[in-house]
Amino acid sequence: MQIIILENAAQVAECAADWVQALIEKKPNAVLGLATGSTPISLYHKLVSRYQDGLISFANVNTFNLDEYYDIEESNPQSYRYFMRKYLFDHVNIKLKNTFLPTCKSGQNPRVQGVMFEDKIKQLNGIDLQILGIGANGHIGFNEPTSSLASRTRIKTLTKQTLTDNSRLFNQNERQPNMAMTMGIGTIMDARYVLLMATGKNKAEAVNQMITGPLSANCPASVLQQHENAVILLDREAANALEDKGYFL
Ligand code: GLP
Repeated sequence: MQIIILENAAQVAECAADWVQALIEKKPNAVLGLATGSTPISLYHKLVSRYQDGLISFANVNTFNLDEYYDIEESNPQSYRYFMRKYLFDHVNIKLKNTFLPTCKSGQNPRVQGVMFEDKIKQLNGIDLQILGIGANGHIGFNEPTSSLASRTRIKTLTKQTLTDNSRLFNQNERQPNMAMTMGIGTIMDARYVLLMATGKNKAEAVNQMITGPLSANCPASVLQQHENAVILLDREAANALEDKGYFL
């Protein structure tokens, strides 16, 4: 695990954008793993502005998102497809047919949908760089605490804490889904590089658990201790609970 502690969230986004740009320069048909949530929004802003400045092209890039709510229409502003279009896809030259999310509508079989998503990743020869955020309870994607560390793409029921954390994003009269399809922890671990972004003080405890262990399904992100190429980008607030911060500077 490479731990990089930066001053603030803007620097975290800048550094993450540098990683994505470097990958695409080296491999124009890179396969990117994408995340939703508030943390990566500033990364997507930076990628859009680099695209507008002619520094980066998504023409041959394929993407796989970590997760999507169960039985949600793409046109629903709460869907992660809508989020990705709003913050990235509609502003760069990516082909929408090259963007994949793990979807499952009512009437579809989540197991079959999960296997199809995994097969598509394999068909494109795996994910080169997976972007991750982290939940306050240590989840990655929607792999909630106690998820199998070997899990593959599947349906998950969201925990109370995640529902509460994410309720800020829903209006009072809006239905908040309590189930989602998510890449599994095993799927995430197969990515060649993993780049986890964490900012703000409400992530400090989860970040501390992820880095200083133990390796445990109670903190799914702690599995990254076993990833060969995991980079953890933190701002000062998210790094605040680490006992020996000086060691990482
Ligand atoms: C969500 C997503 C995760 C995300 C996390 C943190 O529920 N499924 O992929 O990393 O929670 O989100 P945020 O960046 O808004 O704190």
